[in-house]
Amino acid sequence: MTLANRQLRLQSRPKGLLAPGDLQLNESPVPELGDGQALARVKYLSIDPTMRVWMVADTYLPAVPLGEVMRALGFAEIIESRHPDYKKGDRVTGLLQDYVIVDASAKHFLQKVPKIPFVSDTVFLGVLGINGLTAFFGMEIATPKKGETLVVSAAAGATGSIVGQIGKIHGCRVVGIAGTDDKCSWITKDLGFDAAINYKHADWKQKLAAATPNGIDIDFENVGGEIMQEVLNRMNLHGRVILCGLISGYTKEDPSMASLGTILLKRLRVQGFIILDYASRFMEAATQLGQWKMFGKLKDRETIVEGLEKAPDAINMLFTGGNTGKLIVKV
Ligand SMILES: NC(=O)c1ccc[n+]([C@@H]2O[C@H](COP(=O)([O-])OP(=O)(O)OC[C@H]3O[C@@H](n4cnc5c(N)ncnc54)[C@H](OP(=O)(O)O)[C@@H]3O)[C@@H](O)[C@H]2O)c1
Repeated sequence: MTLANRQLRLQSRPKGLLAPGDLQLNESPVPELGDGQALARVKYLSIDPTMRVWMVADTYLPAVPLGEVMRALGFAEIIESRHPDYKKGDRVTGLLQDYVIVDASAKHFLQKVPKIPFVSDTVFLGVLGINGLTAFFGMEIATPKKGETLVVSAAAGATGSIVGQIGKIHGCRVVGIAGTDDKCSWITKDLGFDAAINYKHADWKQKLAAATPNGIDIDFENVGGEIMQEVLNRMNLHGRVILCGLISGYTKEDPSMASLGTILLKRLRVQGFIILDYASRFMEAATQLGQWKMFGKLKDRETIVEGLEKAPDAINMLFTGGNTGKLIVKV
């Protein structure tokens, strides 16, 4: 029986939030397996803000060409194999969508993942995947010290929620900035952040000042714009700004938002980073993250949307704040 492969293809480059038709669902037959190939069936897709960037611009990866299958990180199981390195039942993460032929080319960046009792498959897309790794290495760049104040934006998201907990493990005072009272309550009550600021409240700047009486030593920046400016205003001498993401600019035409004057006057070291630079150390980081999770030092939450056809709406949720923790599409 021929299997049908459902794939979302990029039909037009979005302006602002994704509009209907920017991504179109197509079906095509799954090709027959040849020698040296395996067939992977994707179960979950990781929904990441960078997908919106890949739709429009060449950055650390080239923009997805129009008409091509949209690039996404995913979790898959090998369902058939004529490949020496993969057997039926192996579980992999990488750049995937629906059914994928795995062969000798490195185009999918595949990584085998173990089956661990009581650990869900989706963890390999969140805490032990792109977000945990990004939080881990970003916090390594931040060189946190006991008693320092760390502020993280998009704090109830997949990356920010882990950043704050790693800050607590290092003994920092951790303040998170998020867009709803529920998210603020989750990160303080369940995750142990010292304070949370809802940036949609009119007095959020005063609240940020009250929550950071000794100034700010580390800005783990996920958002940019007005939030970043306000955090920068409160930075201490020789603070560190970890420029992880600028999500408030991804759906706008003008992404220029850094206040270079403040960075200069306060002698701040600002370091941008892309998680792919750390690929050779992923196993080391995943081992540490896994231990922290096992001993209850890291908690996570997931927002799961059902159905590949809902992926375009799911991408928009990242920009409207519809997710708490890791956003995943169950294919
Ligand atoms: N450098 C790297 O290698 C790397 C790797 C992974 C991720 N990142 C970056 O890390 C950041 C977070 O990514 P994630 O995957 O963990 O996503 P996420 O935080 O799970 O989801 C995005 C969240 O951002 C918040 N947000 C969206 N638009 C905003 C705005 N205009 N102002 C303030 N907050 C806004 C929303 O929460 P609220 O309800 O709180 O607004 C939303 O839930 C992104 O900037 C991403 O590009 C960088």
